[in-house]
Amino acid sequence: MKILVTGGAGYIGSHTAVELAQAGYEPVLIDNFSNSRPSAVDGIARVLGRRLPFYEGDCCDADFMRRVFESEKDVAGAIHFAALKAVGESIEKPELYLRNNLGSLKNLMDAMEKFNARYLVFSSSACVYGEADELPVREETSLKRPESPYGETKQECERMIEEAVAKNRPFRAVSLRYFNPIGAHPSAHIGELPLGIPNNLVPFVTQTAAGILPELVVFGNDYPTPDGTAIRDYIHVVDLAKAHVKALEYLRTKSEKREGKCEKADMNGSSPVAFHPSPFHEIFNLGTGRGNSVFEVIKTFEEVNGLKLKYRVGARRQGDIAALYASCDKAQRELGWKATLTLAEGLRDAWKWQCSLK
Ligand code: NAD
Ligand code: WQD
Repeated sequence: MKILVTGGAGYIGSHTAVELAQAGYEPVLIDNFSNSRPSAVDGIARVLGRRLPFYEGDCCDADFMRRVFESEKDVAGAIHFAALKAVGESIEKPELYLRNNLGSLKNLMDAMEKFNARYLVFSSSACVYGEADELPVREETSLKRPESPYGETKQECERMIEEAVAKNRPFRAVSLRYFNPIGAHPSAHIGELPLGIPNNLVPFVTQTAAGILPELVVFGNDYPTPDGTAIRDYIHVVDLAKAHVKALEYLRTKSEKREGKCEKADMNGSSPVAFHPSPFHEIFNLGTGRGNSVFEVIKTFEEVNGLKLKYRVGARRQGDIAALYASCDKAQRELGWKATLTLAEGLRDAWKWQCSLK
C-alpha cells in the first residue's frame, strides 16, 4: 500500500519511512529541504538497503502535489509531517508559519480527495494543550491558547481536518499529538539534523557534549517540580515512528468495521475492493506517560554515555510551562501501541548519532 510521507527527509518522517517500509508499506517521500538535507534520504537507503521514491518540492505548490499523485497513481493515504516547527521563529514570522503549515495541509487534502487517497495521519503536537489543567494530559483535556503561532497552526490544522470530516469529505484521519521526540535510529544512519542553532533540549545536550556549543543553559530551576527544573515527556523517535504504522493499521481496520465490510489487506499495491466508509477523525497522544526533569535528562545522558556535560542554570525561557506529560491509555487501547524504549536509550542513540556526524 502506497503512503505519501510529506516531510519525509525530516527527523520524524525519515524514521517513520523506515518503519513503514519494514512493515511492508510503500512509502513515497516528499520534501522541500527547508529544514533537512538530501543526506537524510541517503540515510534511509542505508538503513533499508534500497532507495525509496523521493520527490523534491513544496507541499504548498498544488501543481507539484498533483504531479506526485499522477506519477504514483495509486496512493492510498498520506502521513503529513511537512511543517515548520521552530517555536521562536514562528513568533518572529507568524505569516510564514500560517502559510506553510496550513497551506500544505489544505493542498494535500485537496489532492488526496481528487486522487481518492483516503487515509490521513497528521503530525500534531502536545503544544495544543498549552498549560494543561490536568496531568497526565488526556486527549479530552481542554485545549488552551498555544504559546506561539506554531502551536496555533497545529490547533488550526486539527480543526481543518475536523471540519473536512464534518462536511463528509472522504478522509479517515488521525491526528497524533507528539510530546517530546528524542533519540535516533540505533543504526545511526538517520537522526535529528538541526540546521543552525537547535530548538530542542536534546540536540543542545549532544552538541554541547560534542564541543559544538560551549555549554548548556538550563532554563530555570525555580519551577514547582521536585528538583526545580521543568518536566516533559521524552519519547524515543523509533517508538514514535512505529506508532504511525499502528495508526495506518487502525485507519484501515476501523474503516472496515464501520462499514461492516471487509477490505482485503492490500500491501502489494493492487486496488482495494470498492467501499466507502464514513469519514472520521480521531486524536491520540503519543508519549511515554512519564515525565522527566531537565536535570534528570542531563544526569541520564551523563550516566549512559559516560560523559560530563558542561551546563549552568539560567533564567526561565519565556512561554515555557512547568510540567507536561501524556496519558497514552487511548493509544494503547485503540492503536495497540505503547512506548517501549527508555529515556536512557533515547539519549544513548542521540549521542551515537551526534558522534556519527563528526
Ligand atoms: P523536521 O523539520 O525535521 O521535518 C519536517 C520536514 O518537512 C523537513 O524536512 C522540512 O524540510 C519539510 N517541510 C517543511 N515544510 C515543507 C513544505 N511546505 N513542503 C515540503 N516539505 C516541507 O521536523 P520533525 O521534528 O520531523 O517534525 C515533523 C512533524 O512533527 C512536524 O509537523 C512537526 O510540527 C511535528 N512535531 C514535531 C515535534 C518535535 O519536537 N520534533 C513535536 C511535535 C510535533
Ligand atoms: C524541553 C525542556 C526547556 C533547551 C517544544 C515545542 C513543542 C514540541 C516539542 C513541536 C524545557 C528545557 C531546553 C535548553 C533547557 N515541538 N531546555 N535548555 O519546549 O517542551 O517543546 O518541542 O511541536 O511544541 O514547544 O521542548 O526541547 O525546547 O525543551 O533547559 O537549551 O528543556 O525549558 O523544559 P518543549 P524543548
